[in-house]
Amino acid sequence: MRNSVICVRWLSLLCAAKYYEAELVVIPGRYKNPTSQWTQNNKDHEWWDEAVVPYLCNGWIALNERLLILGDVKVQWAARQPLVGLDALTKDKSGIVGHGSRGMRSVATPQHKHPKIMMTTGACTVRNYTDTKQGKLGKFAHCLGALIVEVDVDDVFHIRQLNATKQGSFIDLDVEFTSEGARPAKPALSVSMGDIHQRWILPDVIKATFTAPDSLVKMINPRYLFWHDTVDFHSRNHHHQDDWITKFAKWKYGIECVRTEVEDAIRFVNKHTTNERKSVIVSSNHDRAIARWLKDADFRHDPVNAQFYLECAYRATESARLTDGGVAFDDPYVSYAQMFAKPNVQFLKPGESKVLAQVEYGFHGDIGPNGSRGTTKNLSKLGVKVTKGHSHTAEIIDGCYSAGKSTGMLEYEHGGPSSHTNSHVVQYANGKRAIIIIINGRYCLKRPKKPFMTSGDEAEKAVAQSSTDEVIVEPKPE
Ligand SMILES: [Fe+2]
Repeated sequence: MRNSVICVRWLSLLCAAKYYEAELVVIPGRYKNPTSQWTQNNKDHEWWDEAVVPYLCNGWIALNERLLILGDVKVQWAARQPLVGLDALTKDKSGIVGHGSRGMRSVATPQHKHPKIMMTTGACTVRNYTDTKQGKLGKFAHCLGALIVEVDVDDVFHIRQLNATKQGSFIDLDVEFTSEGARPAKPALSVSMGDIHQRWILPDVIKATFTAPDSLVKMINPRYLFWHDTVDFHSRNHHHQDDWITKFAKWKYGIECVRTEVEDAIRFVNKHTTNERKSVIVSSNHDRAIARWLKDADFRHDPVNAQFYLECAYRATESARLTDGGVAFDDPYVSYAQMFAKPNVQFLKPGESKVLAQVEYGFHGDIGPNGSRGTTKNLSKLGVKVTKGHSHTAEIIDGCYSAGKSTGMLEYEHGGPSSHTNSHVVQYANGKRAIIIIINGRYCLKRPKKPFMTSGDEAEKAVAQSSTDEVIVEPKPE
């Protein structure tokens, strides 16, 4: 006889399903011998808690034309990179894989297609691993949570991570679910936006993030906004140095002025930095390109920017100083932008830390350990949780969450296949994070207009369903 234990996280999931009038799906997973053939000998070993049996999915389910649940893809639960190698399995569709860790990959598709995303679910069961190295690593990465999927039209869906606290509650956008029911969530800690490149930011992203009646910022009311690659520096991008036709086009359309590009970017930040909210501008490679321009460019051949160049040069020389390890000078972009940025806009220096609820926000993502090229993978190994930008791709590897970008296809992409996504990382009031992907100017369906549930009825019903009986689930015949 095995005891069935209903945990509060499961009750919170039942409450969420009830609140959203959603179908709950549980993908069964095996920890040991995940790929072994099922035989009668397994009868005594393969069982699931009775509470989850009505929701088990052991095959593939198409949620719409673009999204599949891969209910029968058993991945070793101690696997460190559960999504690696699965990119092509779902062809052009996104896929959901049952796994106890939290993972997300964006897969390159033709530019005209919606992003293709591969995701793990997290687990609704408590940690139960061996005392081996793999077991301990699996236990470390074990994530109590789920995914919420909203099917919009045939080729559009919205998906968000639900990560549970130790108390068993979780937040989805503006609602917190507990074993008791649903209640309004407290204001979120932050939104870390996909790289801005302000000159090229998409109107659809502005709408979904800031201006729509149910925009992300209006809905979750974050205390902090984090900005990556705020400036594109297209006006004097060093890649255009020997590209006469691009230089001609920039002259033709009057977009060569560095001062204008910087001011436009900071005006945009100011506009969306309200008195109740702080903005943090993360030191990013495109922002720092202005310092490189100051070192390399010749103002005598650039009348459009000569005066701004010389102003920057003056401020840089005025600030030049000895440090313990060499010399330094103020970043010309930061020293100019600070003059007209709002007081509640903070500029982080390279390497400067900014931590919210144990998540480090100080890395843009371009620089990795020991000066290597930064990636989501190498920044996932720091031993601290990180939210970063730079890769323009929504991605989760263990504790490292990467936002995407806020622009459309950029000049240097040349129309090739792209894994880039319009996406932001949010951190809720409970410290848990989720990636929000914007498609066609929306990141979620219309929110339910219904009273919150606080009676505890859902919890009572769920407890009544629990059982101490052994449960055996036979797989479907091959
Ligand atoms: Fe960027």
